[in-house]
Amino acid sequence: METMGTLRRTHYCGEVRLPDAGQEMVVAGSIAKCRDKGGIIFADLRDTSGILQMVFDDGTDREVFAKAQSLRSEYVVIAKGLLRERDAKTTKIATGDVELYVSELRILSTAETTPFEIRDEVTVKDELRLKYRYLDLRRDSLHQTLVLRSKICQIVRNYYCDNHFTEIETPILMKSTPEGARDYPVPSRVQPGRFYALPQSPQLYKQLLMLSGFDRYFQIARCFRDEDLRADRQPEFTQIDLEMSFVDENDIMTLNEGLLKKLWKDVLNVEIETPFIRMPWKEAMSRFGSDKPDTRFGLEIIDLSEAVRGTEFVPFKAALEAGGTVRCINCKGMADKLTRKNIDKLTNDAKAYGVKGLAYTRLTADAETSSFEKFLTAEEKAALRAAAGAETGDVLLVVADANWVKACTALGQIRLLVAKKYELIDESKFNFLWVTEFPLFEYSEEEGRWMAMHHPFTMPHAHCIDKLESDPGACTAIAYDIVLNGVELGGGSIRVNDPVLQQRMFKALGFTEERARECFGFLMDAYKYGAPPHGGMAYGLDRMVMLMLNRDSIRDVIAFPKVQNAGEIMSGCPDLVDPKQLEELNIVSTALTGGDHTEG
Ligand code: AMO
Repeated sequence: METMGTLRRTHYCGEVRLPDAGQEMVVAGSIAKCRDKGGIIFADLRDTSGILQMVFDDGTDREVFAKAQSLRSEYVVIAKGLLRERDAKTTKIATGDVELYVSELRILSTAETTPFEIRDEVTVKDELRLKYRYLDLRRDSLHQTLVLRSKICQIVRNYYCDNHFTEIETPILMKSTPEGARDYPVPSRVQPGRFYALPQSPQLYKQLLMLSGFDRYFQIARCFRDEDLRADRQPEFTQIDLEMSFVDENDIMTLNEGLLKKLWKDVLNVEIETPFIRMPWKEAMSRFGSDKPDTRFGLEIIDLSEAVRGTEFVPFKAALEAGGTVRCINCKGMADKLTRKNIDKLTNDAKAYGVKGLAYTRLTADAETSSFEKFLTAEEKAALRAAAGAETGDVLLVVADANWVKACTALGQIRLLVAKKYELIDESKFNFLWVTEFPLFEYSEEEGRWMAMHHPFTMPHAHCIDKLESDPGACTAIAYDIVLNGVELGGGSIRVNDPVLQQRMFKALGFTEERARECFGFLMDAYKYGAPPHGGMAYGLDRMVMLMLNRDSIRDVIAFPKVQNAGEIMSGCPDLVDPKQLEELNIVSTALTGGDHTEG
């Protein structure tokens, strides 16, 4: 192996173009592909910017030519040569008009045959890719994704800095606070038995920064939540986090629409129209059965409750008498596709979303088949069809449930399944919208109490502050989520800045005064010393990059992601630690001793 000697890179492979022809230059990178055609050798050189073809022929110095003959894929080289116009041009790569006629070549590192070919076109098992993530990251599409992610971060930084924001880092080791997802605790060595938690978000610190007078803060912040992994969820992820003083929710939404408009223009050259639709939560649930509606297709949910009120058909009657709802989606002209068999599958899906079943009516040209219409009177049938706008060729999928949210949610999921399966979604669209006016609390059957839908620091609307104690379910929050193509891209709220109101919030959430002090005393104290009105939001950066670049999972936009069991295949973490380390931390692991350390 050789050293670089005095050779230093003058150009990046992917950046040279025809007007550069005639220049002597030095490039460096890895060999992507070699073709030895006897008297002439072509070697594609890859660096972070792209690929450039190198050429060696009978005019090449013999020693250099011999070295070129020994080149193999993934060898690392530095080469000097003359850039010249190619005879056989290609549009497959950005530098397809030129090639480097090499005069000096140094092989800096050889390479064994890689476990898989470093090419986008080859199919390789995910597990192998992840085990050798550093090799997978050499693949162009994955590599360029991370390059773009960096560009996105730069635009974000510039945008907020240009708008008077200050970038501030908040602690990674912090106090564990309740009311969120599950924490990742970190044991303290010097304070035996005590634990830090990794931040689920910088929420409390950013609010304190507003009290410290920073006025506008942002941070590209790493967050940690011990929750089940999904395509849009990782235990460790990144937020674009911000907070602003002396603003209301409209100011925050407007400023952030500006950021999204700029990002889409600068990164994708796509014009997105602002302002985005602002849709109250209740409307989103009612029309789309989701608090993150995908508005790229129709199939909106229709309320049939009034049309069938008074019916003797038991499932509808029971739902309505219990204060619930009967709703449907009208799958227009889909009678051919939505056969009995396919509807049966959807029925199982609906049950998985917690409702008792899925009723249906198929209006084909020659017959009507329905799971329920023979139980309705002629008037009820007519009213139902009119309400649903049903015509020949349509299929109505109907859910009845005593619980309004459950009925809407199940139908919302069915709506998505139908759209995906029958390709009703226009994938070229970027449909943004704000969902606003969320419920302040949601009731947890598991905990037997009201929980904050966002977090306990969210400001209620003025008109419901009186009902905090008497009717928590009727309170709405000054909170907003930004939704893109059915994915929650981010969310935020205006915060409570009155310590008395904050106390009432904790009380409504079932905290005793002592417990509230224990968990959030520092915050409540801070608010005594003057607190500007403030609010903010956070985006999931990984989700943003995933949606911008049309990837299926946030795993594809994170350099070293975790897998299903929250582990990382390449390095093999989480891992056991030296027993001495545990001892120092005063920790006894029942997994190691095999014992049961529960007390009693
Ligand atoms: P929230 O919990 O809604 O709000 O998180 C904000 C955004 O972060 C992203 N996100 C995730 N991305 C990947 N993996 C995860 N496990 C994950 N969890 C959340 C989502 C989400 O919309 N402090 C508040 C924000 C605020 O009120 O200012 C917060 O964290 O895109």
